Amino acid sequence: MLNCKINNLINSKTKLLGVIGHPIAHSLSPIMHNSVIFQNKTNNLNKENISQDINTIEKLKELKDLEKNTIDNLNYIYLAFDIEPENLENIVISAKTLNIKGLNITVPYKIDIMQYLDEIDEDAKKIGAVNTILFENGISKGYNTDGLGFRKAIEELMEIKDNKTNNNKTNKSTKNNKILVLGAGGASRSICYEMSKDNAITIANRTFEKAETLEKYLKSIGHKNVNSIKLEEFEDMTKLMDYNIIINTTSLGMYPNIDNTFIDLSKLPENALNGKFVVDIIYNPFETKFLKQASEKGATIQNGLSMLIHQGAISFEIWTNEKPNIDIMKKSIVNELENKNKNEID
Ligand code: ATR
Repeated sequence: MLNCKINNLINSKTKLLGVIGHPIAHSLSPIMHNSVIFQNKTNNLNKENISQDINTIEKLKELKDLEKNTIDNLNYIYLAFDIEPENLENIVISAKTLNIKGLNITVPYKIDIMQYLDEIDEDAKKIGAVNTILFENGISKGYNTDGLGFRKAIEELMEIKDNKTNNNKTNKSTKNNKILVLGAGGASRSICYEMSKDNAITIANRTFEKAETLEKYLKSIGHKNVNSIKLEEFEDMTKLMDYNIIINTTSLGMYPNIDNTFIDLSKLPENALNGKFVVDIIYNPFETKFLKQASEKGATIQNGLSMLIHQGAISFEIWTNEKPNIDIMKKSIVNELENKNKNEID
């Protein structure tokens, strides 16, 4: 990478992408997006170098591999902007002025940004929050990729499980499942909205009224297969076995309070979660206590990294019309988190 000439990395045609939030210093999005962009630039350079001097079959093969994995004209850079609340109203106009191509929007602006946009995609409108903006022909359009990112993540989990068990006949699908969603905040709303399009959803939350409000809202937009449930119902833990996917969308178990869980799965009978999928949208720690307990009871588990990566990948595609390499995104984030953890321990 260091051998790259600087004009091949950033030049007068480089388009700007970014994320806005407050605070923003801990965002993993710049690393995730830039890893794809810069790997692509490096591949392009290597391609040029090799094509000037193909003298062995190995080099020809290397060139073909690079050609397969390289996107032409992917000339972008992705930066993080910490925006003070009083400046939010100027963001869209500023981005247009600077010809910014796309922005991610994160906490606390996903809802407030909507009033300043020219257009909002139907799904984002119904979710009531925007995490992605595309600027095109002077128009700003808001999208929400969180829900679909979650669907892609669980699709990936089901594929991995099938490959591991060599079981292609299980016909696992992200449709027609019975899903229990723990939590009724912003993250839950995106996930429930997307998954209740074609699954049966039950929402459980500490504050029951919030679960009920979300249920009523989803029903009001035609997602009929939704209900909410009081936490006390899970005093009989075997009720959990009614669901084939269980998702924790609350912050319980997140670093540094890693001993917290929403429901104590260790009380379940042995193998109670065999054949079931349990997902936590937390990725710090990589494996929450909730996921560990689920795995001990036989579930196939997934942390929040996949959702984070897939929502980012969908944003990337909205801006560039290109599918990013998911593995590169994943590696860059895992590396970063491992380094961070190491530094915290040192
Ligand atoms: P996000 O945008 O990440 O979803 P949020 O909108 O603040 O964050 O939602 C947090 C969710 O975690 C809510 O469902 C919240 O439950 P309440 O609606 O009862 O507040 C849940 N949550 C947070 N701390 C909790 C705790 N200590 N016990 C149980 N649920 C908790």
